[in-house]
Amino acid sequence: MMKKTLCLLKCDLVHRNLIGAAINAIESKFKIEKIEMRQLTIKEIEEFYIEHKTKSFFPLLVQNIITTPVVILILQGGENLVSEFREYLGATDPTKSAERTLRQRFGLSLDANSFHGSDSNESALREIKVLYPQFTF
Ligand code: CMP
Repeated sequence: MMKKTLCLLKCDLVHRNLIGAAINAIESKFKIEKIEMRQLTIKEIEEFYIEHKTKSFFPLLVQNIITTPVVILILQGGENLVSEFREYLGATDPTKSAERTLRQRFGLSLDANSFHGSDSNESALREIKVLYPQFTF
């Protein structure tokens, strides 16, 4: 069965004019089903990152992600899509990401790590529904 995952190209990429380079890097390995650039609302961001709501870094996370529109990608692929894409993303902290991973190539710091990727099939469904309530799977 086809799986989907959600990826955000975050504000640090947008600020540095690296949207195209990031999309190229993703598209060289994964199929993009849907793409949109838009400004997220505070409400969407808080719901999207609900698992981090009580963390100390949450206010900064929200503050960072509202500075510019972000690019939302829905990727599609096979059974192991989520884990394959997470592997390509690299560790959350770019200074700890493996060579040739997206965050190692593009990321600057933990707070400016360039990409978000769903961490499970369940998260992917939830995150897609937060940003696209009408989305049909
Ligand atoms: P992301 O995959 O978008 O999910 C939550 C984001 O919070 C994460 O990437 C980081 O950019 C940011 N963040 C800041 N501090 C931390 C931390 N200590 N642990 C995890 N994520 C953090």
